[in-house]
Amino acid sequence: MAKMEVKSSLLDNMIGVGDMVLLEPLNEESFINNLKKRFDHNEIYTYIGSVVISVNPYRSLPIYSPEKVEDYRNRNFYELSPHIFALSDEAYRSLRDQDKDQCILITGESGAGKTEASKLVMSYVAAVCGKGAEVNQVKEQLLQSNPVLEAFGNAKTVRNDNSSRFGKYMDIEFDFKGDPLGGVISNYLLEKSRVVKQPRGERNFHVFYQLLSGASEELLHKLKLERDFSRYNYLSLDSAQVNGVDDAANFRTVRNAMQIVGFMDHEAESVLEVVAAVLKLGNIEFKPESRVNGLDESKIKDKNELKEICELTSIDQSVLERAFSFRTVEAKQEKVSTTLNVAQAYYARDALAKNLYSRLFSWLVNRINESIKAQTKVRKKVMGVLDIYGFEIFEDNSFEQFIINYCNEKLQQIFIELTLKEEQEEYIREDIEWTHIDYFNNAIICDLIENNTNGILAMLDEECLRPGTVTDETFLEKLNQICATHQHFESRMSKCSRFLNDTSLPHSCFRIQHYAGKVLYQVEGFVDKNNDLLYRDLSQAMWKAGHALIKSLFPEGNPAKINLKRPPTAGSQFKASVATLMRNLQTKNPNYIRCIKPNDKKAAHIFNESLVCHQIRYLGLLENVRVRRAGYAFRQAYEPCLERYKMLCKQTWPHWKGPARSGVEVLFNELEVPVEEYSFGRSKIFIRNPRTLFKLEDLRKQRLEDLATLIQKIYRGWKCRTHFLLMKKSQIVIAAWYRRYAQQKRYQQIKSSALVIQSYIRGWKARKILRELKHQKRCQEAATTIAAYWHGAQVRREYRKFFRANAGKKIYEFTLQRIVQKYFLEMKNKMPSLSPIDKNWPSRPYLFLDSTHKELKRIFHLWRCKKYRDQFTDQQKLIYEEKLEASELFKDKKALYPSSVGQPFQGAYLEINKNPKYKKLKDAIEEKIIIAEIVNKINRANGKSTSRIFLLTNNNLLLADQKSGQIKSEVPLGDVTKVSMSSQNDGFFAVHLKEGSEAASKGDFLFSSDHLIEMATKLYRTTLSQTKQKLNIEISDEFLVQFRQDKVCVKFIQGSQKNGSVPTCKRKNNRLLEVAVP
Ligand SMILES: Nc1ncnc2c1ncn2[C@@H]1O[C@H](COP(=O)(O)OP(=O)(O)O)[C@@H](O)[C@H]1O
Ligand SMILES: [Mg+2]
Repeated sequence: MAKMEVKSSLLDNMIGVGDMVLLEPLNEESFINNLKKRFDHNEIYTYIGSVVISVNPYRSLPIYSPEKVEDYRNRNFYELSPHIFALSDEAYRSLRDQDKDQCILITGESGAGKTEASKLVMSYVAAVCGKGAEVNQVKEQLLQSNPVLEAFGNAKTVRNDNSSRFGKYMDIEFDFKGDPLGGVISNYLLEKSRVVKQPRGERNFHVFYQLLSGASEELLHKLKLERDFSRYNYLSLDSAQVNGVDDAANFRTVRNAMQIVGFMDHEAESVLEVVAAVLKLGNIEFKPESRVNGLDESKIKDKNELKEICELTSIDQSVLERAFSFRTVEAKQEKVSTTLNVAQAYYARDALAKNLYSRLFSWLVNRINESIKAQTKVRKKVMGVLDIYGFEIFEDNSFEQFIINYCNEKLQQIFIELTLKEEQEEYIREDIEWTHIDYFNNAIICDLIENNTNGILAMLDEECLRPGTVTDETFLEKLNQICATHQHFESRMSKCSRFLNDTSLPHSCFRIQHYAGKVLYQVEGFVDKNNDLLYRDLSQAMWKAGHALIKSLFPEGNPAKINLKRPPTAGSQFKASVATLMRNLQTKNPNYIRCIKPNDKKAAHIFNESLVCHQIRYLGLLENVRVRRAGYAFRQAYEPCLERYKMLCKQTWPHWKGPARSGVEVLFNELEVPVEEYSFGRSKIFIRNPRTLFKLEDLRKQRLEDLATLIQKIYRGWKCRTHFLLMKKSQIVIAAWYRRYAQQKRYQQIKSSALVIQSYIRGWKARKILRELKHQKRCQEAATTIAAYWHGAQVRREYRKFFRANAGKKIYEFTLQRIVQKYFLEMKNKMPSLSPIDKNWPSRPYLFLDSTHKELKRIFHLWRCKKYRDQFTDQQKLIYEEKLEASELFKDKKALYPSSVGQPFQGAYLEINKNPKYKKLKDAIEEKIIIAEIVNKINRANGKSTSRIFLLTNNNLLLADQKSGQIKSEVPLGDVTKVSMSSQNDGFFAVHLKEGSEAASKGDFLFSSDHLIEMATKLYRTTLSQTKQKLNIEISDEFLVQFRQDKVCVKFIQGSQKNGSVPTCKRKNNRLLEVAVP
């Protein structure tokens, strides 16, 4: 049983459909949509069966890495998503393992990515084929031939910055192991017209710019060139610089590549010399010069350029100069020379330049071939890579397009042939009944062009060789005659009337219905281009060159080998080489890469549908699909088929134990696929319709989902179960561990709790004891403290006086004492006199002694007063008592008083005892006499006064006559009621008597005395001591006196000074007595 390993398929993760054969429905729109969809998802490759369609992404994609190479290596073609590597791998393995020569045909229009594709194929093959030093050198040479050929054969065009301007076919040769041995390159139809003229916006071949930018000054000098592009007529100026292209760097790359490929230094130099010569040829200019025969002859304007070219190429200058002026035609041993006019001279110059360059290019290809040629004679396996221009339809299509399109017709032809052939062969191989396939065979168009008798190319040749005037018009006429009936040929002038009125068809044109579309060709230039004439004089001049390379490029210039036969025309040459190519390709297994350009802007991400549509049409891709689908759309070997769909049937799922083929039979029966939809081949199942395949795919997808669900289900169940069991087991373990842990923890907790409680109780007990002990201790301490304090207090009390703290107080007291002491001592010295009336007293020395000082003053005063008083005798005391009495009675009341103070109270002014005159009087009075004085008794009648002796005894008041001493009145003191006097300074006073008394009969007394105060005082004292009654003393300036019956008012007035200082008394009327006091 085959090992059933899981394989991926092209059908997995498809964006759109990866193989156009499976496109349903198949039409142009769906085709383009599919391409676009894939292009938008960066899927630039799509298959048509085994054909790869490649859409130019115009940006680098990460799909060519070494990892990708490994991915595609040794994998089946339909296993991975479409890729150029898949095709390369298929081709290489088929070559290596099945010994089939391969060819890889890359087609597409300019800029579609053909050259890139060919390089990718080569690099893939180089990467996967054998390794080793020798092999690597071969690989390197093969790969490095590209830069050289690109430098000389590529140019910037409006469509492509690196457009190949030649067709290239390269055979890579391998040995039986698949190791590369070498290669052969063929080139087709270099666009040599570019050398002398470039369309707008395009450049000449890269090599010119690379040489001028990259060559050293020395090399330039040697080649007699200048770096400035503008110096050269052949280099169009408007687009000399190309973005992103470093010509100088590329020059170095090319020189390096030449070296690797095996060019000798002198060879490389020669090549550059030819390039320089071509460049300089363009600078030769001509001017007309009239000749004698009236014809114009051209002359070279400036011979300097010519001279330099000749030096460079070692050509005799005169020979070359002549060749630009004359044309020699030889016929039958006759030589005819004609002069050239200016136009002819320019034509000759350009023809020379073009020929020189195109022959150089061919030489380069040959030289490279020489280098990369396989060294052994053993049989080789061959892989051919064809990178040729695709179908071209321009506004103006000329000879070149005609040739190119012819080439494409041929390629299509071979494609159809090979595809169908292969298809047929496969059917036969697989033992399937061959069914007729209906498709358009373009052989008829090829025939129209290449038929040897009446094909267009044959007629062109015929026209070119025909004597007489030959023009493009005569050629067209001829075509109109011969091809008129051909159904793919259209011309206005043809005999066929159907185009007579077709205005889209100009008169100077013919139109061919190519397999890829109608193309209108301008007939102009066909003849000329086909002739591709180079005047013999020029080729002979070239042959004469001393420059070996140039000489070798023009063998026909050798006069010894003169050949009068015309050289083959360009058309026939091309036809021949295409025929060779076709023969070559027919022997090989074809692999197609069809390149498509998504836009005209060389821009990424833009997919111009109409442009793509156009390409699809002329590449005939739909045809391609149809051809491919003509029989069976899909085929697959039994094993992978069974592997892919076995899950759709119970018998085959999961394992089929039998041959794969019967497995597939069972499967298809079971699925009830209509019998006409498939056939069983020997090794493959053939499916007629893509629908069937897609149905199978849908079923598979559905089934896969179911299976996935089933697998998921079982897997989930299993997972859950194992998980559950694991959890259960784990749970027990965990539980055990947990219980143990919990128990441990609990025990530990209890233990620690017990410990805590224990420690608390112990602590509590200990604290209790401690508390008691502490209490005891504190009590003891307290007692001790109290005792100590008590003792301390005791001692302190005892010793306080010694304490320093009391020193201040002591000192203070001491100081105070000292101060007081000093104060008193000082006071002792400062004592004022002992006179009580002395007001002096020393000033107080200290404020704090203020009260003491005052007290002292008071005490001292009292003391000295006592002292003063102590001196007095009883007599004196008496006197002072009286004086005191007087003071109490009169002080401040009577103006007379102050004058009385100094007078001592004598009382007995009259010494009655001694005066004998008053002996009688004296005898009459037995009592002690207190007052004996003379007073004036005022007469109440006139106010005049009479002197009288006034006597006061203990009990009586006596009045006696001064002269006689006769007692005139005697009044007991008890009868005296009152004494009146004025307040003024006079000695008048009245003694009022008790009414009704004996003495009162004569009325009251009015006296005046010099000792009024003394008399009034003594009277008062005596009365008080005798009667124990206070005598009323009235002090008033107006008082009434009782005279007998009348009361007289005594009034005291202020007297004038003229009456002297004695008061006078005057009687005013009966009732008024006026006393004037001075
Ligand atoms: N596979 C590709 N990946 C990235 N860029 C590409 C690819 N193919 C082509 N290109 C781009 O397109 C340009 C033109 O491709 P080229 O192969 O020179 O076109 P052709 O030979 O068909 O005229 C290249 O220079 C390159 O920039
Ligand atoms: Mg190219």
